[in-house]
Amino acid sequence: MSQTIRVLDSIPAVRAEVSGLKRQGKRIGLVPTMGYLHEAHLSLVTLVKQHCDVVLATIFVNPAQFNDPSDLEKYPRDIPRDLRMLESVGTHGVFIPTPSMMYGPAFESWVELSAMPLRHEGQHRPGHFRGVSTVVSMLFNVTQPDVAIFGEKDFQQLRILERMVDDLKFPIQVLRGPLVREPDGLAMSSRNVRLDAESRKKALSISRGLFEARAAFLGGERRADALRGFVVASLQAEGLSAEYIEVVEEDTLEPKTTVDQNCRILVAVPVGPVRLIDNIALRATAVTA
Ligand code: PAJ
Repeated sequence: MSQTIRVLDSIPAVRAEVSGLKRQGKRIGLVPTMGYLHEAHLSLVTLVKQHCDVVLATIFVNPAQFNDPSDLEKYPRDIPRDLRMLESVGTHGVFIPTPSMMYGPAFESWVELSAMPLRHEGQHRPGHFRGVSTVVSMLFNVTQPDVAIFGEKDFQQLRILERMVDDLKFPIQVLRGPLVREPDGLAMSSRNVRLDAESRKKALSISRGLFEARAAFLGGERRADALRGFVVASLQAEGLSAEYIEVVEEDTLEPKTTVDQNCRILVAVPVGPVRLIDNIALRATAVTA
């Protein structure tokens, strides 16, 4: 069932592989990651596969998107395991660049959106989204995909990248991968491995609060403050407090005071040494756990 995954460790190697695939008329799907993969990453491979002929993944812990040096240093890594996992879902190849391959000593061409990155995550992680939009642009230019997929777990990132693809006319279809949770509700994240047993238990209050808020929404509650209150209370019960809890309109990410169509709650919570993010769509159809 599984194939031997092609490990591409230089930009020329990727370019050669991609031109070979294009000559054969293959449609390429891209799954950018920072590695230390889990089921949610694999779900992106499986989803994008339905829209292309071959899937390429990238593994790159992008220094430019880490505003906290200790977060970068502690970011978990295990390339051999990642390769086995990618192979198990039929990924054709994986590009694993080094920082110096991506950011030469004279690097100065940044891709930066003007408004969307200033809110929510961006307010607490200055420069983060500039790093994300820049690296994803580079990965697009190197791998030349027809379709790329990003997860709804990082909803602001997803919207920023959709905006960027639209604004800069990248000829790439962007797909959304639904948020994948652990059976107990915790949003899957490479950073979860850094939670000790007690922190992990506390972290469950994030999804619990979001589920309660969604239940209240489904029961007719439309006041953003009241919905946020469910998340605040759930966190408080475990002695946690959020960096932000916002009810936003999905397209613009503008905060709302009253919920109408297409709204989502976004939240970021420090839990011990780890900063976790999560979100939930305020829709009857959003079955995420
Ligand atoms: P990373 O955190 O490794 O995530 C890679 C992709 O997996 C992203 O699109 C992310 O949204 C998605 N993902 C992670 N956890 C998920 C979950 N529980 N459910 C659904 N999707 C999930 O996001 C990044 O890397 C980087 O910022 C990147 C886009 C690769 C640029 O460096």
